Amino acid sequence: MTNDNTTISDLIAGQKPGWSLDQRFYTDPEIFDLEVERIITRNWILAGHQSELPEPGDFKVVKVANESAIIVRTQSGELRAHANVCRHRGSLVCVESRGNTRKFVCPYHGWTYDNDGNLIAARNMPADFRKEDHGLHSVSLEVLGGLLFICLSDSPPSLAGARRDLAEPLRMFGFENLKVASHRVYPIEANWKLAIENYQECYHCATAHPDYARMHTLMLDAAKRDRVQQHMLDRMEACGLRDMEFDFVDTCARPGEQGYGYSRTALFDGYKTGSRDGQPVAPLLGDLKDYDGGASDITVGPFSFLLAYSDHVVAYIFTPVDHRSCQCDIYWLVRNDAVEGKDYDLEELVWLWDITTEADKRIIVNNWKGVNSRFYQPGPFSGMERLERRYIEWILQELAA
Ligand code: FES
Ligand SMILES: [Fe+2]
Repeated sequence: MTNDNTTISDLIAGQKPGWSLDQRFYTDPEIFDLEVERIITRNWILAGHQSELPEPGDFKVVKVANESAIIVRTQSGELRAHANVCRHRGSLVCVESRGNTRKFVCPYHGWTYDNDGNLIAARNMPADFRKEDHGLHSVSLEVLGGLLFICLSDSPPSLAGARRDLAEPLRMFGFENLKVASHRVYPIEANWKLAIENYQECYHCATAHPDYARMHTLMLDAAKRDRVQQHMLDRMEACGLRDMEFDFVDTCARPGEQGYGYSRTALFDGYKTGSRDGQPVAPLLGDLKDYDGGASDITVGPFSFLLAYSDHVVAYIFTPVDHRSCQCDIYWLVRNDAVEGKDYDLEELVWLWDITTEADKRIIVNNWKGVNSRFYQPGPFSGMERLERRYIEWILQELAA
């Protein structure tokens, strides 16, 4: 239990390595403000897939903490992102969450912007008013294997390493040619770090996720896992997959670069994919020839995590809302020529990660309630919370920087 007069830097310096965070990191709005400054607006966040915006004028709005960005395909076919803040007096310009338009008309006084963000109409302005000085601010946008990433900083961390090292994994699974089969939003009444910490560890999997635990091997001890892993490695080449591993995540990121990672882990024997009975739920991705029985974890930055099975991809994005709430977006992606009802059944496709996320939501909210208690004090991590521990060290490093 901390004294409320402790400064944030003292709190960071006093954090015991290998122990969960002090209560104030979860409950103090001042620390959240610092996180917005140093973490939330400074890192790349997955914002969907290019296939969601196929036509000129297609747009979607993405919200992160207090910020709102419009991602739009311009009339010339490029993808751009704009701050959703009117240059007149600051109203949100676009209040719909997605659609198709040739122009964005601010609902307040009607200032009108084209899809490139240029101001094209503003009534009754003085003679010396220059429309060209009042375009929408642009937001950094990068496309990686068809995945859309935005960053709310004008000087975002470099994605060069991720672009180079993830090129082959993204190519193997044909990421550019995926489509969104389903997108669900899970609001979570808890501090955002609790949600991401939960995603990073599988110490809770055996107790919270009986279905996940019968197919994924993450909670096995190392020796047992090595045996299952070897079976997968033996099959991989014939299935058209290359064995690769990158770990530049969080504190292991190169200076100036966004952290990223890739690894593939075997499912239990008999499971070709993450489905109810282990049988395929969609056509094989990319150029894959067969099922190796593995699932690849892909991480880009601190908020975005992807899981590539052989026949579908599940993408998780955790976005902070305020210090006491966050949101988990899940996208289920399949190859873009797969036909719903014929090549895949939506309910079967989303089944595992929908029930797993609902269960996670319950345990995260319970965790949040306990963390708010006067009796909460940091506790020691287990050996199965290694990634979570590193994540927390990175958070502290960024807050202290
Ligand atoms: S605030 Fe947008 S037109 Fe006035
Ligand atoms: Fe979980």
